[in-house]
Amino acid sequence: MVKIFTNCSERTITKFDKLIEKEGQVEKSIELDLEAEFSSLALDIIGLGVFNYDFGSVTKESPVIKAVYGTLFEAEHRSTFYIPYWKLPLARWMVPRQRKFHDDLKVINDCLDGLIKNAKETRQEADVENLQQRDYSSLKDVSLLRFLVDMRGADVDDRQLRDDLMTMLIAGHETTAAVLTWAAFLLAQNPSKMRKAQAEVDSLLGQQKMTLECLKRLE
Ligand code: HEM
Repeated sequence: MVKIFTNCSERTITKFDKLIEKEGQVEKSIELDLEAEFSSLALDIIGLGVFNYDFGSVTKESPVIKAVYGTLFEAEHRSTFYIPYWKLPLARWMVPRQRKFHDDLKVINDCLDGLIKNAKETRQEADVENLQQRDYSSLKDVSLLRFLVDMRGADVDDRQLRDDLMTMLIAGHETTAAVLTWAAFLLAQNPSKMRKAQAEVDSLLGQQKMTLECLKRLE
């Protein structure tokens, strides 16, 4: 999966590079909404890592991406609202935001159902030991969905599978984006720590240090 992380990060770096190149020509300071950028990056990574679906949100907008952000917004609302009014019998039809939520959910569910169907059709049954021995570096699809379908058998419940994937999407998206955003914010304020972090990244990833160079210019 590290390949997925690297490929997606490179897309973000290319986007930053282009912006720096463009803005650099007119010699003005560069403004970048890192929270939005890291959210897109995290969404692309979690999509590919969990269900082998490329949201491509770093470079474009799509109805599925909008629906994902809509449901994440609603999840946040529900986790902080005191009265669970959405459980009332007619709420999902009467309350506009609940109607929108159910519309968004349908878009995502349809997308996930298609991916689950496809994973099941191309299923290669294996037990945990076989799955652990697999040469993942040669596989095109290393997603969690592929793993779960291959391991759990043909009769795995689609609803359960879809809910598990949704859990991963929600748990893994905003958390990661928030960590990246705050880390970037704090590093930008601490040049010596930035250099230390950069040295560590360089020692691990060789020449791929553009992200930190971009951040330095945003200090
Ligand atoms: C830096 C990023 C992340 C942070 C800061 C983070 C933080 C947390 C925290 C604090 C909990 C415990 C919540 C509680 O029990 O009250 C948790 C649980 C969980 N996280 Fe993460 N998480 C991150 C990334 C991820 C990712 C990438 C995934 C999945 C792909 C994920 C999946 C889960 C799941 C499934 C649980 C529930 C575990 C359980 O209770 O059985 N998280 N996470």
